[in-house]
Amino acid sequence: MCGIVCYIGKDKAMPILIEGLKKLEYRGYDSAGLAIQDGNHIDCYRSVGKITELEKKTNDLEINGTSGIAHTRWATHGEPSERNAHPQTDVREDIFVVHNGIIENYISIKRKMEKAGITFRSDTDTEVLAHLIALNFDGDLNEAVRKTMSSVEGTFGMAVVHKTVPGEIVVARRGSPLIIGVGEEGNFAASDVAAMARYTNEVVHLNDNELATITKKDFHISTAQAKTITRHAETVEWETEDAELNGFPHFMLKEIFEQPETIRNAMRGRLEKSEGVPKLGGIMPVWDRLKECRHMVIVGCGTSYYAGCVGRYIFERLTEIDVEVELASEFRYRKLNFPPNTFVVSLSQSGETADTLAAIREARRKGAHVIGIVNVVGSSIARETEAGIYNHAGLEIGVASTKMFVSQLTILTLLALLLGRHHNLSLTDGMEAIRELEDLPDKVRKILSEANHIQSIAEKYYRYSNWLFLGRQYGYPIAMEGALKMKEVSYIHAEGYPAGEMKHGPIALINPDMPTVAIVPRDSMCDKMINNIQEIKSRRGPVIAIVTEGDGNLKEMVDDVIEIPATLDFLYPILAVIPCQLLAYYSARFLKRDIDRPRNLAKSVTVE
Ligand code: F6R
Repeated sequence: MCGIVCYIGKDKAMPILIEGLKKLEYRGYDSAGLAIQDGNHIDCYRSVGKITELEKKTNDLEINGTSGIAHTRWATHGEPSERNAHPQTDVREDIFVVHNGIIENYISIKRKMEKAGITFRSDTDTEVLAHLIALNFDGDLNEAVRKTMSSVEGTFGMAVVHKTVPGEIVVARRGSPLIIGVGEEGNFAASDVAAMARYTNEVVHLNDNELATITKKDFHISTAQAKTITRHAETVEWETEDAELNGFPHFMLKEIFEQPETIRNAMRGRLEKSEGVPKLGGIMPVWDRLKECRHMVIVGCGTSYYAGCVGRYIFERLTEIDVEVELASEFRYRKLNFPPNTFVVSLSQSGETADTLAAIREARRKGAHVIGIVNVVGSSIARETEAGIYNHAGLEIGVASTKMFVSQLTILTLLALLLGRHHNLSLTDGMEAIRELEDLPDKVRKILSEANHIQSIAEKYYRYSNWLFLGRQYGYPIAMEGALKMKEVSYIHAEGYPAGEMKHGPIALINPDMPTVAIVPRDSMCDKMINNIQEIKSRRGPVIAIVTEGDGNLKEMVDDVIEIPATLDFLYPILAVIPCQLLAYYSARFLKRDIDRPRNLAKSVTVE
């Protein structure tokens, strides 16, 4: 979604901000803009489309200012256009503000302001912030922002500059991420570490309802109630390689091919082979309660939710815990009534998904313990959970999540194994699970070595406009995830369905123009899946089957086969999802889609 990057230092701000905006492109955006301060003068530029459009506009200009704020916008209020792009400004054009999030009471504020004679120049909710800050300003920008925070409802990460206050950028946060970056030759603020990672990996996280004044040499944080906060910078791990394509045509493909390493990174240092049990230091603070837990709810959105759906089956297989899985966007509005010692496990790559954050806050309010499985270190969910496990998957740039899914499945397996061993899972079963987990990276590599075969299947079917993905038990969430990937990057309509539901409706869709991807590994559901495949074939529906190596009888029954190596039933999802990802990727490529930036999608969904 929208991105913010700010710089104040000794170098020219323009190239630093443009580069920062480019690093935020992966989040999804439709327009961009920046405001550069040079003494008592502020130049503002905005454009629709790619950052290169903004660059074209500013390339030949002499812009020397050494501080500025910049933004990529993903339209929520008002169409993507120059006048709706940020920075937004007040009537006198003294104040410039960039904003992520949504000001929920902007209509009532706007009406009052219009009555008082203020003419609005955009359709955005953000413009009210600029006018409010201008009205609240009497020489102290920090104070004007603080007063404004108390009159707006909703969410914001914002950065503000004022013509008459050179040398200061004021940032504030409620609900949308904002991080201060402490550099040697200047300071930064951004919604995402990626935007400033080239210059610094020393970061300070702002909490909700905090604001900060950032100068060339310093930063001062305080709360909305004007209480001073002392917070020191922490060092974040950052591989600059993560942000480069390294010869791959798209980040999605690069990240699919990174998955053997992603699985290894999720397990690194966490396996006690001889005990058949994982070591998960991050959840030790809650271990005494967790080990007694008999009721768990897994929450997440999108791909993270589907990982949770697989997680439920894994927990049921390895532990004695009753597990529910819920979409965070629904869970947050439920009337929750938890049995004692319920644990809510939140899954999130970004750690900033608004619905997941709201869900964990509600769960805590209702007395549940909340832990997180999160990729982005120091993100809001990581900080608002009692304990958690990091994925250590590195930056995921492709808007369609791929490596995060296998990482989440790996970590859910480790967590279930840890609890299962504490319940009644035997040492032999624990050791076998660890052995199989350790073999997964090579097995994934083997599937990836068949990418050309999967590409040729995508070439055969990419013109079909409706696909069905079917699976049972562990394969059902993989069918859902496969269909989601296909929709997201190729814009092909795809349905993910539990195969057992076919007869209750979807079978009506089967005809020669609707390919079905059937997830049929050699597990306890295999025979039932074969029955479903026969039903489809007898209605002349094309079938692409994802099967376990050597299942020759299936080859004769279906149109195309993709083989995956054999593993334990509860580990098949980690293997079976890889061909689905590749089918979606190659179909999108044949259809010439913008794979890393699919239309209307954003990487991090920080609004409801
Ligand atoms: C799908 C995708 C989204 C995310 C969802 C949750 O490819 O990327 O469905 O999985 O928005 O995001 P996180 O995991 O950051 O909470």
